[in-house]
Amino acid sequence: MHTVVQPGAAPIGGTMATPAADPTAVTTAVTTAITTARARVAVAGATGFTGQELLRLLSRHPAVTLTAAMSSGRTGGQTGASSRQLPALARLWHGAIVPLAPETLASDADVVFLALPDAAAAAIAPALVDAGVRVIDLSGAFRLRDEGARRSWYPDTQRLPAGVAYGLTERERGAVARAQLVANPGCYPTATLLALSPLVDAGLLLPNTDVIVDAKSGVSGAGKTPSERTHFSEIHGSMAAYGVFNHRHGAEIEQGVSRTVTFTPHLVPLDRGLLSTIYVRVAPGTTEEALGEVLEQAYMGATFVRLVGSSLPEIKHVAHTNFCDIGWRVDPSGRAILVSVIDNLLKGASGQAVQNMNVMLGLDERTALL
Ligand SMILES: NC(=O)c1ccc[n+]([C@@H]2O[C@H](COP(=O)([O-])OP(=O)(O)OC[C@H]3O[C@@H](n4cnc5c(N)ncnc54)[C@H](OP(=O)(O)O)[C@@H]3O)[C@@H](O)[C@H]2O)c1
Repeated sequence: MHTVVQPGAAPIGGTMATPAADPTAVTTAVTTAITTARARVAVAGATGFTGQELLRLLSRHPAVTLTAAMSSGRTGGQTGASSRQLPALARLWHGAIVPLAPETLASDADVVFLALPDAAAAAIAPALVDAGVRVIDLSGAFRLRDEGARRSWYPDTQRLPAGVAYGLTERERGAVARAQLVANPGCYPTATLLALSPLVDAGLLLPNTDVIVDAKSGVSGAGKTPSERTHFSEIHGSMAAYGVFNHRHGAEIEQGVSRTVTFTPHLVPLDRGLLSTIYVRVAPGTTEEALGEVLEQAYMGATFVRLVGSSLPEIKHVAHTNFCDIGWRVDPSGRAILVSVIDNLLKGASGQAVQNMNVMLGLDERTALL
């Protein structure tokens, strides 16, 4: 059994032991009570693509109890609190989906996952934090630290609550462990920053050279509401660039590496999976081994980042997993190309969110994810 409380973490549900005459017995009993308590966890946006992945992961998590699952209450023919069905989760999870009720989230959960549109997350997260709940927000509402950028991309976010951490787990473990609100990264930034940030930190990129990110995502990245662009008949057998010079994940990637990045996302005819190809300049003569050593150093002991070197990774290798696979090639002139792949719904959203929860609760971060 995992320990679910660590210093600084929010209290979790469960009863404490009754004091006994022998002080040693008290200590033992309290420790036992603490280590066997389960965190009370709720999911808002449970009927969406990422919300259903959260329910799937959390329903088999040994250290949590799912206490609430909520949707907008607008769709699915809801007539009562529990009429919504999730056929994909039959026999895995038997709870009821109820309409969003922020006050119930605050009273019934120690940790709340928000798998909501940006505006809905922006509206309810600060009050949850004020109520002492720990929040993991999958939307973009709280990812950008710069106020101007945030106002431009996330105008519904009125303020950043105290204790916000950017939840790129492998790079922010300490901040995530202490956080009251984890802003879970976007899918494109997750794949891109995991590959690019260690090179930036190591000073490997030549100054004043372009960083180009050419990325492709499966259609589930757009959420469950179909549009003309994501309609099967439009995307099947096709491929399109979108958001050129105008995608909010560009701002998030630039925040992560503190330099200008040319970022072009593409929609590809896959249901899930994301591949980011990153073009940078390093000093001529830099070897693939040298670049690999920087990444090895950054991800020593990081289970979910797999470095595959010059063999280059593929979406199929990470689909339905929380892994990020990173490969790279370098030519003698100093052109370096990195390829990073994730499942957008897992490492790019719900998997990383559960990984962050594990870190926040002092658990083995791999719990329920392998
Ligand atoms: N999809 C991805 O790959 C991905 C990756 C990283 C981050 N994200 C982010 O994660 C969040 C969820 O994404 P998603 O793809 O799961 O979206 P989605 O499939 O569209 O699901 C949205 C969920 O939010 C609920 N909802 C919508 N409007 C609401 C409102 N005003 N109040 C309460 N609930 C509301 C929906 O309930 P109903 O079913 O009742 O409509 C549904 O449960 C988004 O902010 C998205 O940007 C997504």
